[in-house]
Parts: sequence; C-alpha cells; structure tokens
Amino acid sequence: MNKELYDKLVHEGRRFMRHDNYAEYGPWESDQELKKPQPPLVKARMSTEVIALPKDFKDLSLENDLTKLLIERKSHRVYTEEKMSLLAVSYLLWATQGVKSIRGNNYATLRTVPSGGARHPFETYLLVRDVEGLKSGLYHYLPLEHSLEYLQAVDDIKETIDEATCRQTWAAKANVLFIYTCVAYRCEWRYGFAAHRPALIDLGHIGENLYLASTALGLGTCGIAAFDDDYINNLLKIDGDEEYACYVEPVGTIKAEDRGKEEAFYSFLKDDE
Ligand SMILES: Cc1cc2nc3c(=O)[nH]c(=O)nc-3n(C[C@H](O)[C@H](O)[C@H](O)COP(=O)(O)O)c2cc1C
Repeated sequence: MNKELYDKLVHEGRRFMRHDNYAEYGPWESDQELKKPQPPLVKARMSTEVIALPKDFKDLSLENDLTKLLIERKSHRVYTEEKMSLLAVSYLLWATQGVKSIRGNNYATLRTVPSGGARHPFETYLLVRDVEGLKSGLYHYLPLEHSLEYLQAVDDIKETIDEATCRQTWAAKANVLFIYTCVAYRCEWRYGFAAHRPALIDLGHIGENLYLASTALGLGTCGIAAFDDDYINNLLKIDGDEEYACYVEPVGTIKAEDRGKEEAFYSFLKDDE
C-alpha cells in the first residue's frame, strides 16, 4: 500500500470516530423521519429446532461484589476444557443481550446493556464446542424468548474456531465462541449514515458485560477483533453487508494455577526491556 492511500484510510478511520458535522452534504432525513416502516427488533427465527434456556440464575454460584469483579476482570486465553453448564451459557446470553421489557408498541427492546436510541442492532451466534445439554455446532440466540435455535452442525469445531479467529489457536479450547453480528439497517433506520459509531459503542457494552458475567461465573473470556470476517460471514450464511460479523469472544473454563501460562502471552514485553 502506498503512503497516500495509507494516509487516506487513516483519515477515514478518524473521521468515522470523530463524527464531523456533515453540513457540507446538505440536510437529510432518516428513514424514521420519512415514516418508513421500522425494521424488526430482532432477527426472525431461522430454524425449527429451538432450545428454551434455563433462567433459574439463583442456582449459579455467582460473585456479586462489583468492585471485586472489576479488579478480577482480565483477558483469559488459557482454557482448561472442563464442562460448562447450559445455565452458565444462558446467564452469559442474558447478561449480554437479555431483554428486560419492550418500550412502546414494539418500538424498542430494553436489555441488560444500553444501546443508542435502544436500537440494539446486534445478533448473537454461538459456536458451541462443549456445553452440557447442547450438541456441538452453530446456534443463534433468540432474545425475545430467551432461547437458542440450532442452526447447523460444524464438521470440525476446533478447526472452525481456529480459522474464525485467524489462527489464534488458544481460542479453540474455549467451550463456546460468542459471535456478534450487526444488522445495520436496524440502527440506520433511525440514525442513517451516523448510525455506525454509536453501534460500535453499544458493542463495547456487550463485550464488557460478557467479561464481567464470565468473571462472576469463574469463567474466562477475551475480546477478539482479529477475526476472519469473510470466513465467519460465510459460516453464518450472512451477506456481509446488511448483516456482518463485528466482534467475537471465546468463553472457557479456567483455573487460577494457569496464571503463569496467561502471563506467557505477554512474554514479548521482555524483549523491550
Ligand atoms: C476490542 C478488543 C479486541 C481485542 N482483540 C484481541 C485479539 O484479537 N487477540 C488477543 O489476544 N487479544 C485481544 N484483545 C484483548 C486485549 O489484548 C486485552 O484486553 C488487553 O491486552 C488488556 O488486557 P486485559 O483485558 O487483561 O485487561 C482484544 C480486546 C478488545 C477489547
């Protein structure tokens, strides 16, 4: 890439984050202001195989001290490959995208995370490797009914997670890979071309809730931005434009004794000393 193109792309990235005022382009109205129909609050069911998720969270052994959770939250990349319960996964889904109520006449969902204009443009898919009560494969979360729908089998789940995460091989030992996609028009309907920065801010809340809920359960996760977009979009059978993958987070069982192995991921820092 030549320097000129590099500088142009850097500028575009900054502009995306900065939200220049777009006055130079003239006035515009959003599709909401133009009274176009509101897109659905969630993606419609795609499968007939639906698993109702348990919601008796009082049965979980949860750390509830927020200060402790904030101190203990860290990225975990060493997973012990022990069993993970369906109730734990159910809790993680609820903590990240769970619906608490509906605002207005199906105008918006109110969830466990905030969202600009309550648009909640994200969908959650799971690549399940090893969760009690679930066969391995690809699932999609149905937030309105707090259920999972089974979409398809995956031939070699470890290889699939490995490829999806750009060969960050540690991720394949996670019990489950959370994949977040954006259904763009859900927020563009209200915010037009200014929708995408707030959507990414929303996604930060989702990701952090997954970190904190995992920590509360004694599980480990790590945000991953270096994933293979095309590979995941193809796997999910989404078009990569109207809906596209934005963030993935593996969640796995961990143990305190692996702290040293975790530190080894930062051994490159020693070279700088
Ligand atoms: C948006 C985002 C993307 C990240 N992408 C990766 C990644 O692709 N690979 C990785 O090993 N860690 C990734 N991380 C983890 C960061 O490296 C980690 O959060 C950072 O080093 C601080 O460590 P801590 O989370 O333990 O506080 C990502 C974190 C975030 C929030």
